[in-house]
Amino acid sequence: MRIDIITAVPDLLKSPFETSIIKRAIEKNLAEIHLHDLRDYVHDNYRQIDDYQYGGGAGMVMMIEPIDKCITKLKSERDYQEIIYMTPDGEQFEQKTANMLSLKENIIILCGHYKGVDQRVRDHLITREISIGDYVLTGGELGAAIIADAVIRLLPGVLGDETSALTDSFQDGLLAPPIYTRPANYKGWEVPEVLRSGNFAKIEEWREKKAEERTAKRRPDLLKD
Ligand code: ADE
Repeated sequence: MRIDIITAVPDLLKSPFETSIIKRAIEKNLAEIHLHDLRDYVHDNYRQIDDYQYGGGAGMVMMIEPIDKCITKLKSERDYQEIIYMTPDGEQFEQKTANMLSLKENIIILCGHYKGVDQRVRDHLITREISIGDYVLTGGELGAAIIADAVIRLLPGVLGDETSALTDSFQDGLLAPPIYTRPANYKGWEVPEVLRSGNFAKIEEWREKKAEERTAKRRPDLLKD
């Protein structure tokens, strides 16, 4: 899978992809991430990518031309199944969005900055608008990194244990059950006996029960319908 990220601040996006699991996925060619600096698509001396709002009002607006040039160039090179704009008024990013995106071959993520992009970008160049939550960030870059991380870890071969993404919280509509590792007893705090019993049917039953209890307590909204 290939993810192209268009941004005014590419430096903000370098380190999330240079460590750990995502780095390894890129090295193993399971995923490609390409950062595009919007200023490379402006050819005046000031490399200006934003301007004042028509009608007045506080805050600068990202201009359509550099964004259009960048997206047009990318689309001339390959087909993209989604062109996503990161914005707090987009649809909320959830596990099911990550699952859906992980099945795409090529996607573009456009990061907004300042007050946002010219509305014509949203009307004519974008296929989907995504928010990572009900709060406003300085730009879409951290959201783009979150999406890339959540999607790439789902790609076959990225996680060592092939089944582990399937047992994540949210994958079956429930939060994940508690997990433990050695030692079995730490300062008198014991690992539940059933997990050490070797009885896999019982362990599975216990995990399901705990997942349901935890979900009912912490996220009852997930159990509706
Ligand atoms: N840009 C600024 N805030 C954002 C948010 N909450 N989600 C996605 N992009 C954003």
